[in-house]
Amino acid sequence: MLKVGVVGLGTMGSGIVQSCVESGFDVVAVDVSGDIVSRAVDRVKLGLDKRVEKGKLEARSASAAAAKIQGTTKFDDLQGCAIIIEAVYEKQELKKSAIGRISETAGNDCVIATNTSSISITLLSKYSRHPENFIGMHFFNPVPLMPIVEIVRGYLTSDSTVSSATALAKGMKKEIVEVADYPGFVSNRILMPMINEAVFALMEGVSTRDGIDRVMKLGMNHPMGPLELADFIGLDVCLDILNVLYEGFRDPKYRPAPLLVNMVNAGRLGRKSGEGFYRY
Ligand SMILES: NC(=O)c1ccc[n+]([C@@H]2O[C@H](COP(=O)([O-])OP(=O)(O)OC[C@H]3O[C@@H](n4cnc5c(N)ncnc54)[C@H](O)[C@@H]3O)[C@@H](O)[C@H]2O)c1
Repeated sequence: MLKVGVVGLGTMGSGIVQSCVESGFDVVAVDVSGDIVSRAVDRVKLGLDKRVEKGKLEARSASAAAAKIQGTTKFDDLQGCAIIIEAVYEKQELKKSAIGRISETAGNDCVIATNTSSISITLLSKYSRHPENFIGMHFFNPVPLMPIVEIVRGYLTSDSTVSSATALAKGMKKEIVEVADYPGFVSNRILMPMINEAVFALMEGVSTRDGIDRVMKLGMNHPMGPLELADFIGLDVCLDILNVLYEGFRDPKYRPAPLLVNMVNAGRLGRKSGEGFYRY
């Protein structure tokens, strides 16, 4: 069975590990400290147990899946992986160093994928030895539940790299949509302006927080209102992505709402800080 590497075992990395092992892939799971690795492996096991409770997975398959994870802090252990997915923090410098280290270890035919939400795939591909083997695989949160992956083709990505990433995503039972490497891909290019406009509407007093979210939930059939969704994603993450869109297109339609900027500066980051548009 194909061996997959996952580097960075936070929210997304551990979700990717869970989806991979549930689908039968062996996984080498890398993070910077032994503590973080073991906490991530425990989180994956908990996730597998939850799937058993919900009747989505047999207990035997869950323990077989858990046994497929090799947690480690050593990049050298990635040797022999056919595809390695980078899911470290959304900071270009950090990604540069992680991709460089992955690339030093990876075999010449190994595909390196990044789960970046907003950084250019073409730009990140420069940090690997073989830009033609580099691609974006943009998973959605929570990975085990969300059925789609954006496959992002960088300027230099080869067809065979696209085929390998597509085959892995399909092996993980995900639908794929192939997209070109422009800021925000499809998902965030459409989602973030909607969230930003909701913040402008709140700032201008068009309606209240609850009013704005109710119109979008009941009128547009969205499962979450845009302000609630912004809290879930993290207001700092929303601001970062809007800035990428703004700088990438140099178009004022992507300018972040001043209220969003104020809230981020005030440390009101949404769910993760205990308060954003809502209190948690
Ligand atoms: N959270 C989301 O909803 C979401 C959705 C889609 C894509 N993404 C993208 O996925 C990536 C990861 O996001 P996240 O929310 O899982 O982040 P996170 O903060 O939950 O986790 C990041 C992990 O990377 C690890 N890390 C940092 N530097 C490392 C290094 N040099 N080597 C190995 N591990 C390292 C950290 O220890 C941490 O465990 C980002 O690029 C983000 O934009 C996030």
